Amino acid sequence: MDIKLSVKNLEAFYGKNKVLKSMTLDIPRNKVIAIIGPSGCGKSTFLRCLNRMHEVVGGTIRGEILLDGDDIMKKDPVDVRRKLGMVFQKPNPFPTMSIFNNVAAGLKFNGYKNKKQLGEIVEKSLKQAALWEEVKDNLNQSGINLSGGQQQRLCIARTLAVNPEVVLMDEPASALDPISTTKIEDLIFELKKDYTIVIVTHNMQQASRVSDYTAFFYLGELIEYGETKKIFTSPLNKQTEDYIRGRFG
Ligand SMILES: Nc1ncnc2c1ncn2[C@@H]1O[C@H](COP(=O)(O)OP(=O)(O)OP(=O)(O)O)[C@@H](O)[C@H]1O
Ligand SMILES: [Mg+2]
Repeated sequence: MDIKLSVKNLEAFYGKNKVLKSMTLDIPRNKVIAIIGPSGCGKSTFLRCLNRMHEVVGGTIRGEILLDGDDIMKKDPVDVRRKLGMVFQKPNPFPTMSIFNNVAAGLKFNGYKNKKQLGEIVEKSLKQAALWEEVKDNLNQSGINLSGGQQQRLCIARTLAVNPEVVLMDEPASALDPISTTKIEDLIFELKKDYTIVIVTHNMQQASRVSDYTAFFYLGELIEYGETKKIFTSPLNKQTEDYIRGRFG
């Protein structure tokens, strides 16, 4: 298997509190990996470890995370965060910026100045995020006047604009209506041609629809990890089975 991210004996702490317990898993390239598990089991923490946001919120880690074989802890954290872009539960466009500048923000921050090039990347990213047709005539309007589902696709475009390799999504559709949710799910399917995607979701149907592999977390432990089809039809672990059948959590 072609491995994009290899996580070895990962432990994550907030102070002395250990919230991830020796997790080991490989994330294959150009696949969608769903992380499921009850509230507080460490899903968001896990995502933040992968792109070195965990240290930003005051946490520490032990163990190893390899991106294409290289230890991310030995890399420039800014570069790691560009390579592993994050989309959050609540759409968070930059409130004072236009749609165009929301998407271009990361590029401008990285020193891009060429207007034509910026325009091309903004258009490409909005197309990838399936938002272009809805906003192409209003690029100078504020990003916060869009609907929730549009704002989330704007945030996805913003993440894609800096050309990441991995897209981390923390419950990206949980605040959206069914139509917007379907759009995001279709989008995930398209995006995996170019990116490796790790998505946290509380929606079991969504996990089974969009992902190739599923990891079940419980109380900071990786209980079971495998092909989504297998996890949802014949899980090996009783706790996994109870969780996906809605018997707890
Ligand atoms: N910034 C923080 N400081 C201290 N403890 C934290 C912090 N963020 C999370 N925790 C703790 O770490 C554990 C895991 O939290 P995390 O947010 O990763 O869970 P989660 O699986 O994403 O939950 P949810 O489904 O509710 O989003 C919880 O016990 C939580 O209280
Ligand atoms: Mg969370």
